Amino acid sequence: MSSGTSSTVVEQPTGQPCYADAATYSPARIVAHSQIADNTWRLRLDCPAIAAAVIPGQFAMIRIPHRSDPLLARPLAVYDTFVDEAGGQDGAPRRYADFIYAVHGRFTTALRDISVGRELIAWGPLGNGFQIPAVEHLVLVAGGIGQTALLSLGRERLGRAVYGPASRLPSPRSARVTCCWGARHAGLFGGIEDYRSAGIDVHQATLDGSAGLRGTVVDLLDSLFGPSGGPPPAAVGDSSTRRLHIACCGPDPMMAAVARWAATRQFSCDVSLEAPMACGIGICFTCVARVRDDSGSWDYRRTCIEGPVFDATRIEW
Ligand SMILES: Cc1cc2nc3c(=O)[nH]c(=O)nc-3n(C[C@H](O)[C@H](O)[C@H](O)COP(=O)(O)OP(=O)(O)OC[C@H]3O[C@@H](n4cnc5c(N)ncnc54)[C@H](O)[C@@H]3O)c2cc1C
Ligand code: FES
Repeated sequence: MSSGTSSTVVEQPTGQPCYADAATYSPARIVAHSQIADNTWRLRLDCPAIAAAVIPGQFAMIRIPHRSDPLLARPLAVYDTFVDEAGGQDGAPRRYADFIYAVHGRFTTALRDISVGRELIAWGPLGNGFQIPAVEHLVLVAGGIGQTALLSLGRERLGRAVYGPASRLPSPRSARVTCCWGARHAGLFGGIEDYRSAGIDVHQATLDGSAGLRGTVVDLLDSLFGPSGGPPPAAVGDSSTRRLHIACCGPDPMMAAVARWAATRQFSCDVSLEAPMACGIGICFTCVARVRDDSGSWDYRRTCIEGPVFDATRIEW
């Protein structure tokens, strides 16, 4: 980690690049902080190096300074970035990083009570982010707060936003982006207008039927694509544009179900794992997941530096 961004990329054993050493560690002033849904808050941080470098699917570790409970930082996906055209000291544009979090345990409960103007500690951007090839129809599948990892991907693929350093190659466009979002009840859909205003076609499922389809997100996928058929898959693995690809984030059982759903239809699918993390930079091994290699055997992989995004067919659920 450095105090400024770097372009060094570490090659991992899986062949996936890792951007942990390009992360910055810095104070991050809270610029905006408000409740947007039941139990759900939106946080805007002034951490320009993270905001300038982040790509869709990456995250930052956030810590509350000057307190020992909780001692450890927590990972939060960078939901989006926002440019204030005259936010800099000299009236120059300033890019902020936005996060959305669900109040859950000790960290998020304490974070909720911290006011605008106070400083947090943030390091990032971390993780591999989504590396999805050209695809005609991108389907984002979110469970609960998992939607935070997916908005920027959809916005970028529809040409509504550009993320990452200037040296990054342009991301391929998709003709269509759909979001299938499942939650326990209607009050939990925080940020849905961000999806709609980006041109993303949003479909909801709730367990209690208070919004959208009553049922799970897999029921929703069945209702949109057919329970066993759906559109025939395009050739996967060749250089042509794939017809449909799924990017998924949410609780593990939901992602496992979506992965099975995609596999039976031969749709390619990436999942962004929400493993508990302590360091975020590959040191502590708290974040391991069982990931299969080409031979079919599995090994523990650190989701903070080799993930959090993996090909769903590689995960040993
Ligand atoms: C890459 C990544 C991105 C994330 N992005 C977001 C985000 O954008 N918004 C958001 O709200 N959350 C996100 N999370 C999850 C968030 O980091 C955890 O929920 C965090 O632990 C909350 O801290 P806490 O102290 O409030 O809860 P804790 O006290 O840490 O946890 C409370 C309870 O939840 C369980 N728990 C903790 N973490 C997880 C987990 N990851 N999965 C399942 N159970 C868990 C604990 O075992 C405990 O029982 C992300 C996680 C990862 C790995
Ligand atoms: S969180 Fe420490 S190694 Fe991944």
